[in-house]
Amino acid sequence: MYIAKEERYEKMIYNRCGKSGLKLPAFSLGMWHNFGSVNNLENMKKILFTAFDNGITHFDLANNYGPVYGSAESSMGRILKSDLMPYRDEMIISTKAGYDMWKGPYGDGGSRKYLTASLDQSLQRLGLDYVDIFYHHRPDPETPVEETMYALDQIVRSGKALYVGISNYKKEQAKEAYRILKELRTPFIIHQPSYSILNRWIEEDGLKDFLYENGLGCIAFSPLQQGILTGKYLNGIPADSRIGGKKSPYLHEDALKPELLEKVKELNQIAENRGQSLTQMALSWILKDGKVTSVLIGASRPEQILENIRALDNLVFSEEELRRIDEIARG
Ligand SMILES: NC(=O)c1ccc[n+]([C@@H]2O[C@H](COP(=O)([O-])OP(=O)(O)OC[C@H]3O[C@@H](n4cnc5c(N)ncnc54)[C@H](OP(=O)(O)O)[C@@H]3O)[C@@H](O)[C@H]2O)c1
Repeated sequence: MYIAKEERYEKMIYNRCGKSGLKLPAFSLGMWHNFGSVNNLENMKKILFTAFDNGITHFDLANNYGPVYGSAESSMGRILKSDLMPYRDEMIISTKAGYDMWKGPYGDGGSRKYLTASLDQSLQRLGLDYVDIFYHHRPDPETPVEETMYALDQIVRSGKALYVGISNYKKEQAKEAYRILKELRTPFIIHQPSYSILNRWIEEDGLKDFLYENGLGCIAFSPLQQGILTGKYLNGIPADSRIGGKKSPYLHEDALKPELLEKVKELNQIAENRGQSLTQMALSWILKDGKVTSVLIGASRPEQILENIRALDNLVFSEEELRRIDEIARG
């Protein structure tokens, strides 16, 4: 039986999620990879316990994380039941619906039918009565945004989620969702976009500033570009990596273009000069201006979490470092 470390809250930083009452850890753990039915339960436990022992209180899921779809939630459900349930009130568990989940017209998109049924299924797999945050996973151009937002509102009022969020919405789409949810007085507190040194769309689109200026939280996913920004692919493809033996359908060898690897090499040099690993620099860079609430990392081993959270030891960048990082990222 797992017993959480006494000192688990000593080092982590907790940031307020927008203007809400909820605080999130500077690092949250995502369960997109490594928690499916194809993965090893003991390793999952080690990853989750290492995270929790080090102050990571937020665990991010979605209905279709696996493989197979649904199995990451089932894994979390098993581990909650065997070990983590005594800590439920110290944890923030989120899930989402919006991508394809089951066959037919009601298992994808943004309809009230899909979102409501999907959350019921998620709760069953997780063995929970409620999740802390429920997200619409991506905008659905075929469903009126009012319908999707009313569904999120109803979900909170039914007690099945405490807060709601949206993910992958561009600024203009987020603005509209925010307008509706504000009118409904729904506890909409967070947006989940992709963001990294090499992926700046939320800066260019204005989404990052929009969220900050309107008191909404922001949790950045794939901050290491799925591992590319660790530098692990600089000398070939490691056998136990996402591109290597794990053969992820979401990241292929052809992503490793020579120009990209050159950028990673140059960024690595800056990190070395700062006395950080490239991984740590990439993570601390996201937290540098206080506009991102939490960095949503993935990990295939507990050691990766321990390395990654040490990014908190150095969150300060000089003007010159920032200028150089921007220059390299732009190419
Ligand atoms: N809302 C959305 O649409 C959406 C989309 C994608 C992700 N997400 C969320 O964001 C979470 C994180 O995404 P992500 O997994 O792409 O994040 P990431 O942090 O960019 O990549 C994580 C992967 O990088 C490698 N890695 C991490 N730390 C490392 C270290 N110290 N040394 C060497 N390798 C290291 C590991 O892969 P290997 O060891 O296997 O190579 C790990 O699984 C997901 O779990 C999910 O919750 C949301």
